[in-house]
Amino acid sequence: MVEAFAVASGKGGTGKTTSTLALGMALAEEYDVTVVDADTGMANLLFHTGLGDADTTLHDVLLEGGAPIEAATYERFGMSVVPCGTSLAAFEAADPERLRTVVAELASTTDVLLLDSPATLGSKSAVLPIVLADRVVVVLQPTIPALSDGLKVQEYALSYGSEIAGTLFNRVRGDVGDVTAKADRYFEGPLLGTIPESEAAGAARAAGEPLLAHAPDSPAAAAYREAAGVLDPRTGDADAVADRFRSAVIPEPP
Ligand SMILES: Nc1ncnc2c1ncn2[C@@H]1O[C@H](COP(=O)(O)OP(=O)(O)OP(=O)(O)O)[C@@H](O)[C@H]1O
Ligand SMILES: [Mg+2]
Repeated sequence: MVEAFAVASGKGGTGKTTSTLALGMALAEEYDVTVVDADTGMANLLFHTGLGDADTTLHDVLLEGGAPIEAATYERFGMSVVPCGTSLAAFEAADPERLRTVVAELASTTDVLLLDSPATLGSKSAVLPIVLADRVVVVLQPTIPALSDGLKVQEYALSYGSEIAGTLFNRVRGDVGDVTAKADRYFEGPLLGTIPESEAAGAARAAGEPLLAHAPDSPAAAAYREAAGVLDPRTGDADAVADRFRSAVIPEPP
């Protein structure tokens, strides 16, 4: 195990799922990567990976006496992909605290774990990925409200001992130097990259493929590859990391 990252934002629709898969595919060139849809209430990673009709998903694993994680792990696009289902009943039946065990088990079999995280901080299932992660990638759109929401995620992450991997600006049009300069002042960690607005992102989603599989030569794909290079995952002792996940204290959400 090298490191677990949460890909989070505060705001919805900033590009967390797109970014999780793009960073995952880029890192998979060098590392053994597992991506997990930890947005268990509003899952959508399955649709970005052609797994819309997957038989077993993370929801089944999070049930009391549920399926083993292997049953919900699919080899896709050079990564191990753990999708989550979209049924509200399954979300309600799932026990979010079991995510600790899932992440601990994955820690022993993969190098880099990317947790696609929920937009809110409003429930146990929503805060867990941020609390469990070693570092948080904060995905922002270049607007002041997005920065403000991202700062709440940062504050929350830091208060639970998770570090900030850096900020990733997505759907960027034109010069956003003034916004990234502001972000640099308030966010920990480096600017990981600025991903341009790209029609290829929507087309990839419609095709059920990650951006780096659907349009590897697009400027957005190149920007994600560069951002993945800045991430520089760290080596951690697999057993120590797994123990930490297993014994993580799950806070009451703010
Ligand atoms: N760089 C981009 N250029 C254009 N469209 C993009 C870009 N990145 C993402 N999108 C589009 O924006 C929408 C939201 O992206 P995505 O689903 O990755 O966001 P999210 O943060 O995971 O959303 P949610 O909070 O709903 O989980 C999608 O339709 C996606 O195709
Ligand atoms: Mg998403």
